Amino acid sequence: MKEFGGQIGDFDEIINRVGTHSDKWDSMETNYGVSPERGLAMWVADMDFRPPQCATDAIKRMCDHGIYGYFGDDADYKSSIIWWMKECHQWNVKPEWIFSTNGLVNGTALCVQAFTEKDDAIVLFTPVYHAFARVIEAADRKVTECPLVIENGRYVFDFDAYEKLLTGKETMLILCSPHNPGGTVWLRQELEELADFAIKHNLKIVSDEIHHDLIMPGQLHIPMAEVKKDISDRLIMMTAPTKTFNIAGCHTGNVIIEDEKLRATFAKTMKATGTSANAFGLHMTEAVYSPDGAYWVAALMRYIDENARIFDEGINEIEGAQSMGLQATYLSWVDFTETGLSPMYIAERIQDVAEIAASHGTTFGKGGENFMRFNIGMPRARLEDAVQRLHKAFA
Ligand SMILES: Cc1ncc(COP(=O)(O)O)c(C=O)c1O
Repeated sequence: MKEFGGQIGDFDEIINRVGTHSDKWDSMETNYGVSPERGLAMWVADMDFRPPQCATDAIKRMCDHGIYGYFGDDADYKSSIIWWMKECHQWNVKPEWIFSTNGLVNGTALCVQAFTEKDDAIVLFTPVYHAFARVIEAADRKVTECPLVIENGRYVFDFDAYEKLLTGKETMLILCSPHNPGGTVWLRQELEELADFAIKHNLKIVSDEIHHDLIMPGQLHIPMAEVKKDISDRLIMMTAPTKTFNIAGCHTGNVIIEDEKLRATFAKTMKATGTSANAFGLHMTEAVYSPDGAYWVAALMRYIDENARIFDEGINEIEGAQSMGLQATYLSWVDFTETGLSPMYIAERIQDVAEIAASHGTTFGKGGENFMRFNIGMPRARLEDAVQRLHKAFA
């Protein structure tokens, strides 16, 4: 990512989120039996950091004005998205390609409605973000699970194996790029092979790139739209500022479609479902897609990179535990297979002894069974506490 000047956050600040309607902290006892007062929340994918000042200032300006009406005149908002994609991802977007949704789970659901029929199957490369399967199944479509393979400590596709898994009912694939969980940044060649696979089987490609800014120093994210294959008539891109800037509660996202025909179909589904974005999300997006925002993210990723180094070093000292080196995201993916312990026993040690709420690998589909996912988007002192707790729990 390009370097800009500006203000950075105090990522070391410990902010108490208990009792603030935080899903991550205020639902952990119900979901994992871990007390928010004594325990650590490392599950839901939001961070315990304040967003950049420009995001908060945008909300303050709204509060100072004091009227919270519908959002209109979206030229500056769209310009900020175009600027961000160009500056940070070398991707040229046109204003008419952009649709604003209520986040990207909503974006996924709209794509499923718009581009597939009841009983169609949708390819997921598992283990993968669990909401994809939830949305697909709730819409009476089927999931075709195509398991990823671990090679040299990162996930790779196995398209030869997938040929045998397809049922003939597949009409779409959903790509998670960078990948959650595992934090894989896909290589250009891998994305080209994926494009060939989609062309061969006539699949629409929905590319969820919500983690595209959370890239470790030295890694390069390639937008699917920039892959040199003839896929624009089947490609739907999805991005959002919410993971990047820790503003997930404003539930906003962008579905970006170059192809006119696909756009018309998607626009109809937006109308049919009465989808329109909320003003808070749009005001914040416009503020963070800026040089100030870019500067803040670069500093954030340096901090996350060091968190990942500390967490990996600590986790890998536990006999049989192996974390996947993150190329992107703040979601550490830990393989407990070699401990020889059952997934249920592992989860119990983590929840009941370490008092940490972490995501169970089974929820991410085939291949995730022996894993746990830990959100390391937290102040360093808390992260070091987490490592110590895990050491004690597995001593
Ligand atoms: C790949 C992916 N897509 C979408 C989401 C959630 O998107 P939203 O909050 O915009 O619905 C997440 C959250 O973790 C995610 O990891």
